[in-house]
Amino acid sequence: MGHKVLVVGGGGRCHAIVDALSRSPKVEKIYCAPGNAGIAAQAECVPVKDVQVDDLRDFALANGIDLTVVGPESALAAGITDVFRSAGLRIFGPTRAAAAIESSKDFAKRLMSKCGVPTAGYRTFSDYAEAHEHVMKGSFPVVLKYDGLAAGKGVVIAETPQEAEAALKDMLLDDRFGKGKVVVEEFLTGPEFSFMCFVDGEKVWPMALSQDHKRAYEGDKGPNTGGMGAYSPLPFITPEDREYALEHIMKPVAGEMVAEGIPFSGVLYGGLMKTPSGIKVIEFNCRFGDPETEVVLPLLQTDAYDVFSAVADGTPMPELVWSDRASMGFVMASKGYPGSYRKGCPIEGLEDALSDPDVRIYHMGTAMKDGMTCVNGGRVLMVIGFADTLRQAHDKALEAVGKIRCADLFWRRDIGWRVME
Ligand code: AMP
Ligand code: GLY
Repeated sequence: MGHKVLVVGGGGRCHAIVDALSRSPKVEKIYCAPGNAGIAAQAECVPVKDVQVDDLRDFALANGIDLTVVGPESALAAGITDVFRSAGLRIFGPTRAAAAIESSKDFAKRLMSKCGVPTAGYRTFSDYAEAHEHVMKGSFPVVLKYDGLAAGKGVVIAETPQEAEAALKDMLLDDRFGKGKVVVEEFLTGPEFSFMCFVDGEKVWPMALSQDHKRAYEGDKGPNTGGMGAYSPLPFITPEDREYALEHIMKPVAGEMVAEGIPFSGVLYGGLMKTPSGIKVIEFNCRFGDPETEVVLPLLQTDAYDVFSAVADGTPMPELVWSDRASMGFVMASKGYPGSYRKGCPIEGLEDALSDPDVRIYHMGTAMKDGMTCVNGGRVLMVIGFADTLRQAHDKALEAVGKIRCADLFWRRDIGWRVME
């Protein structure tokens, strides 16, 4: 008998997870909550929000779900894993306590210092006056991070004392994101990259490396976003770099979490930087990256149901086999994103764009309206090309992007500029 799987979330990352599961002969039926217009072609969408964890548990129990795979951190921070496990349900994702590695920057920093993992020097403050004094004595730029989930908007790189003061006021006096602490961090330089690993307690299985592009506009200009494009593999990361990151960063952190009685299970995402003095941690996330997952998971050739099950159950992992092809994806976003934008504009040309078998399109924020796929989010589509080289993958993806017609979308054409020949 085939298995029934529930995927929690509704963005491009979840579309990639649904797509990977749909390639498994062991999976008979996929549900996705809440899903989106693209996911609906491969899964039955269920209108339950990712943070309604009790409703999701009831759905899983009522529908005989064998395995649940969680996309977004919001569901994990809401304790979905704890709630599902208490009900005897199998779930892929960390407990709420372990998810703190993402939701609390201070917690992540303390873990790293305990096991000697390289990261930017830092101090944590909850008092405005103390934070202000510390920052004004230090050098600029300085990095200020709100200690909690702030939808990607909690990090300020202040170039001047004036900017730093304004940000500290925002975070500690006006409580823009709620009452909280601020981590003041040393500014590091170098290329950033994403190292996602499947983790079950002390066991760590690395995925293909990828790089996101966080700024909204070409040339890495403009405001920070959730990510405007990604690619894999990374020519500027050597096998030695990767080995170092695995042995000296990912494994020690997973081990330290076990030692502290909060073992991690799921995807541990290392946001790393290759600085002039070695590889250092910028941040950890407790889940698949978005848009990194969209370029990485399609390269996984091992049955995704088996991989998620091994992590969820703590059973032996099958050998992970990765395609040696390159992938590159372009995010098509709503004009105005990451600020306010309009919803509802119809999107045409999707079928034509998909006529190349080496192109995939994962929907990030779409909905069906009057039989048309329409814009329904800030990031709307991720268009990915697969080829033998990054240059070819880039060209294939951009050709497909050019076939998509929607007046309300914009995108960066320079994804992968650091590695293009
Ligand atoms: P985070 O949410 O922690 O990933 O931070 C968002 C972005 O801010 C990162 O992707 C980096 O580009 C930048 N950033 C964060 N911390 C530092 C740091 N210590 N030095 C330089 N840039 C940083
Ligand atoms: N792409 C960055 C993230 O998923 O947090």
